[in-house]
Amino acid sequence: MDPINNPFTPGAGAPPPELSGRDETRERIRIAIERSRIGRPAKSLLMVGLRGVGKTVLLDRVTKDAAAAGIRTLRIEAPEKRSLPALLAPELRLALLQLSRDKKIKDLAGRALRALAGFARALKVKYQDIEIGFDLDPEPGLADNGDLEHDLQALLEVAGEAARSGGTALVMFLDELHYVEEEELAALIIALHRCAQQQLPVVLVGAGLPQLRGRMGKAKSYAERLFDFPEIGPLGGEEARAAIRKPLEAQGVSIDDDALDLIVETTGGYPYFLQEWGKHSWEVALASPISKSDVEQASVTAIAALDASFFRVRFDRLTPSEKRYLRAMAELGPGPHRSGDIADQLGRQVTSLGPTRSLLIGKGMIWSPSHGDTAFTVPLFDQFMRRIMPEADWKI
Ligand SMILES: Nc1ncnc2c1ncn2[C@@H]1O[C@H](COP(=O)(O)OP(=O)(O)OP(=O)(O)O)[C@@H](O)[C@H]1O
Ligand SMILES: [Mg+2]
Repeated sequence: MDPINNPFTPGAGAPPPELSGRDETRERIRIAIERSRIGRPAKSLLMVGLRGVGKTVLLDRVTKDAAAAGIRTLRIEAPEKRSLPALLAPELRLALLQLSRDKKIKDLAGRALRALAGFARALKVKYQDIEIGFDLDPEPGLADNGDLEHDLQALLEVAGEAARSGGTALVMFLDELHYVEEEELAALIIALHRCAQQQLPVVLVGAGLPQLRGRMGKAKSYAERLFDFPEIGPLGGEEARAAIRKPLEAQGVSIDDDALDLIVETTGGYPYFLQEWGKHSWEVALASPISKSDVEQASVTAIAALDASFFRVRFDRLTPSEKRYLRAMAELGPGPHRSGDIADQLGRQVTSLGPTRSLLIGKGMIWSPSHGDTAFTVPLFDQFMRRIMPEADWKI
C-alpha cells in the first residue's frame, strides 16, 4: 500500500501512532506530580524496562501532559560520559527563567537563578562540561561550596521554593538515568529526599534500563523506599493488537484476525517490534485487509530491518571479547543465565570474565536480575547474535 500513508514509526524515541497500554502509568505519574504541587507527600517515579519497550516516548508524553497542566518541566537525556550537573544546569535555567516571568515570585525565582550561577561556577572546577549563561550574579554562600551533594540540595531547595510560591511544581524528566555516575545519582537522591521532607514540589520522573533500580539502591540504600519503579514491559495481547489495529483503522485499512495474531505472537508485544512489523506488513500488502500471508512475508524484511538498525547499532559498539560473551549467552537461549554456564560455554573461569561482564553492564547491554544471573537488555538479542555470529569459531 502507499508508503506515504504508512502510519507506523519504528525508531528510537519516535512517537507511535497509538501509545497503547500506558494510560495507567501516565495517570500514576500525573497523580504524583499533582500531589507534590499541593504539598502532599509524593514519590518520584523511575520507569524501568528493556530496550525498545517505549520508555522514551512515554517520558515525552508525560512531559507534555505535565507542561499542559502548568508544571515547569525539565527534559533531560543522560548520554554516556556527561555529568549530571552539566545536563541539569541549562534546563533548570530555562525553567527558572520561565518562573521569573510570574511577577509574584520574581524575587524567589531570581534567588534560584543566583543559586544556579553559584552552583555552576563552583562546580565547573570538577565538572568541566558545565556550560550555561549567567543571568544574575551568584549570592555568596548559596549553593557554591563546590561540593555536588551540598550544592545540588541547596539549589533544588531554592528552586522548589520558587515553584511552590508560583503554584506549580518543578519536575525533572530524565531519560537513560542508568548512565549517570553513582556519585551524582547519590547527590540527586539526597537532594530529592531533602525536598520531600520539606514538602517542596520537586519531583524526578526518570527512565532507564532495569539495572537502574540496583544502581539507585547502591548509590543510597534508602532510594528503593523513596521511589516508585513502574515497570515498562511488552504490551499485553489486547494492547498489542490495538497498537496495530487502531493506526490501520485511522487510515481506513483493516487486518485479518489471524494476521494480527501472528504479529502479536512474533513480536512478543515489544513496542519497537510491533512498529517494525506494522510498517513492513503495510509495505507488503497490496490492499486492505492485510492478510496472514502478508505478515509472513513482512517478517523477513522486518527482521532484516532490525538486524540493520535496532540490533546492529548495539552490536557495533562491542569489542571482540564482549561479542564472544554475548554469543555464548545466546547459545544458551534468551536467558537469564548463570555466570557459570556462560563461562562454561567459553571454556573460561567465571572470575576471568568478570571485567567483560562489567563492561557489558556499563554499556547497557546486559543486566543482572538477581545475584549471579545475567540477562540481555535488548529483547530477542539472543536470536540476533546467533544470526550475526553463526560460525562455531566464536569460542576462544
Ligand atoms: N505504547 C506503545 N505502543 C505502540 N508503540 C510504541 C509504544 N511505546 C513505544 N512504541 C514504539 O516503540 C519504539 C521504541 O520506543 P522508545 O524509543 O521510546 O523505547 P525505549 O524504551 O526508550 O528504548 P531504548 O531503551 O532503546 O531507549 C518506537 O518506535 C515507538 O514508536
Ligand atoms: Mg529510550
